[in-house]
Amino acid sequence: MTPPKASTQDDMALLRQEYEESARFISGITGGRPQTCIILGSGLGDLADSIEGAVAIPYAEIPHFAQSTAAGHKGNLIYGRLGGCETLAMQGRFHYYEGYAMREVTRPVRVMKALGIKNLLVSNAAGGINNTFKIGDLMIIRDHINMMPNPLVGPNDETLGARFPDMTRAYDRDFIRLAEEIAAERGISLKKGVYVGLTGPSYETPAEYSFYGRAGADAVGMSTVPEVITARHAGLRVFGMSVITNEGYHFADDFVNDAADVLRAAGEASAKMSALFAELIRRIGED
Ligand code: HPA
Repeated sequence: MTPPKASTQDDMALLRQEYEESARFISGITGGRPQTCIILGSGLGDLADSIEGAVAIPYAEIPHFAQSTAAGHKGNLIYGRLGGCETLAMQGRFHYYEGYAMREVTRPVRVMKALGIKNLLVSNAAGGINNTFKIGDLMIIRDHINMMPNPLVGPNDETLGARFPDMTRAYDRDFIRLAEEIAAERGISLKKGVYVGLTGPSYETPAEYSFYGRAGADAVGMSTVPEVITARHAGLRVFGMSVITNEGYHFADDFVNDAADVLRAAGEASAKMSALFAELIRRIGED
């Protein structure tokens, strides 16, 4: 194994500089000190409508940010108040299946860290593997299985995080408890389970859904895990939620997976998830 080239240090310094520049640009517009960032998954961008005094910053204007090309992803960073707290919401994320390098998929998390964000709330549309899950259900992600390339592969910048970050509690247990309390008080039914992150973009075959179910997954999707690994590397506290948009456990003769159905199901569950996130942010702020 050859030792890392000197240029690696320069690359890391350059990247850090880019994160700082993006963060400076954003804080120059927002002026505030938000503690929480939400990443909104496919079809879940409507949560941004609940943000008071919203200021939208198109990704295209943020230095060094990539563009969001996926269906159901708008490509704006929204700043305002949610649950009474200053919040940033990413209306659209970058997926590995779009062809972005993992560095670009996870760049926004680095920028959030540079901005002083402490908590990351991630959401996604996911296929249900657990046969007790129905379309429209909300699932708290209690753990994940990573089947994508790990975003931390490559030289490690020790100023950003440890070489071998712990993943035993990737999803913050206090946040999970708070979310369960809120749901119980409001009569919102919540599932809890393991999310497996795959590259996509093809949906799974019935054999694959069944395979990941046997491996311990309850839901499957094409996002979230790279951002969560990066957030934990950066020391952010993480809460994750999947909206179950299709049922990957019974396949009637005429059934096919269709992205339009996925977006519709996510849109329909989005109000329920938004209310839960707003209250979660309020309680995290009070903690
Ligand atoms: N598989 C992968 N990703 C998904 C699915 C699915 O069934 N549904 C929504 N995102």
